[in-house]
Amino acid sequence: MTDQHFWERTVGGHFVLPKRSFWPDFFSQVVARSQWNPEAIDFNPDARAWSELPAERRRRLMTILAGFRVGEDAVSEHIRPFADAAREATLASQESLMAWVFFLQRRDEDRHARFFDRVAAEVLGLPGDTPAERREAAKAHAPAGVIELFEGRLPETATELAAGRTGLAEGVSLYHLLLEGVVFFAGQHALLEDLADGALPGVRYGLERVQLDERWHVGFGLRCLIECQPSRELLDELLARAEDASEAWGDVLPASTREHIADLCHHRLAAVGLVEPHVAAEQAVRRAPAA
Ligand SMILES: [Fe+2]
Ligand SMILES: [Fe+2]
Repeated sequence: MTDQHFWERTVGGHFVLPKRSFWPDFFSQVVARSQWNPEAIDFNPDARAWSELPAERRRRLMTILAGFRVGEDAVSEHIRPFADAAREATLASQESLMAWVFFLQRRDEDRHARFFDRVAAEVLGLPGDTPAERREAAKAHAPAGVIELFEGRLPETATELAAGRTGLAEGVSLYHLLLEGVVFFAGQHALLEDLADGALPGVRYGLERVQLDERWHVGFGLRCLIECQPSRELLDELLARAEDASEAWGDVLPASTREHIADLCHHRLAAVGLVEPHVAAEQAVRRAPAA
């Protein structure tokens, strides 16, 4: 069976909505097919090539990769309250396996954190004997907007979720739709374009795997949001924040990429009927190449 049979919607080549009738099973099959090992990647060619890259290109790559080093650590840590919140939530389909899918996602996020830690240590040469020390070193290079989102907004929301003071819809709209669907997606898009010439083959190989994982995470987040039947107010806030979030990387992302990514959030919500289509945004998404 092809992937297409599992999906109700695809947007610009991205799967966004698994069919309602068997969506937990669908995600488990995606996960089973997409296992990879960040410890098995050979970074020796990347480490040799890194010092030979032009200074401006190294600055740009360092900024984005350091942002991922911080961000993936944060999402790996702060996904924990989501499974409990899913068990407590009232879901439209009364599906009982959502917490289990959060567990599958957490394993991916742990893998992503290990991948970017290896990149930081072995390619970028960030100092530190432990992952915690290297995370601190990465913060000196990561954009302030990214640090604010992943070390400020995300922990705050995760704490509120764990305490029952905010709901699953609010948590998912920040974590999956905004941080993964906008910020990470924009960074992956920029990195894969930059590394298309094969300059850092190990980094590119891992990034392609990370991006495949993140696609199902965003699709899962969208399904969670639908299940929670979010208010219009929450969706409007998400769309407003998507525009700001696409600016989080600062000048290392081309303006055209930032605009496309902000539009994509609207497009995903419109594709599943949560908001009305916006003609200009839909056209922009159709014109843009898939990452
Ligand atoms: Fe991730
Ligand atoms: Fe993710």
